[in-house]
Amino acid sequence: MSGRHPVAVIIGMMGAGKTRVGREVAQMLRLPFLDADIEIEREVGMSIPDYFAQYGEPAFRRVESELIARTLSDFDGIFALGGGAPMTPAVQDALAGYMDEGGRVIYLQADPKEAMERANRGGGRPMLDGGDANARWMRLYEQRDPVFTALANVHVRTHGSTPQMAARKVMNMI
Ligand code: S3P
Repeated sequence: MSGRHPVAVIIGMMGAGKTRVGREVAQMLRLPFLDADIEIEREVGMSIPDYFAQYGEPAFRRVESELIARTLSDFDGIFALGGGAPMTPAVQDALAGYMDEGGRVIYLQADPKEAMERANRGGGRPMLDGGDANARWMRLYEQRDPVFTALANVHVRTHGSTPQMAARKVMNMI
């Protein structure tokens, strides 16, 4: 690959541990780490729940797609995406282009129940607001899992792993 590109991009459901595991992998490999959600919050100058409340999901997805496209061609570390990002067609295209050039898109597959509980415990996730958060998470999982599975070129199951063990599994694949 020419230019700067992420060493690996991590995708997966809310609560799968993308940030936690991604940070660990970066540390082990002595690479920089970037989390799309944190970068978005920095860019828009407010939290993601506030941004959703003020501007809505479509505006958030536009900011998110833009940031991801930019980062895919100008960052050479470990890059974790927000859970819903790979559902946006522009992000799917950008990830396909990145993989065509040898990039790795890693689907971090956590145990659904564990990820769901972690996502709901963590809070600050507007996609789970407004009703039964477990049911909402599960519905998103059913929609997203087939897309993530088809999209990623690396699949890592983390069921029963500590974040360190999961990070080692990811490391072995990159
Ligand atoms: C979202 C996941 C969040 C964040 C936003 C929307 C989603 O990221 O981008 O709240 O649609 O699943 P995490 O997966 O890091 O929680």
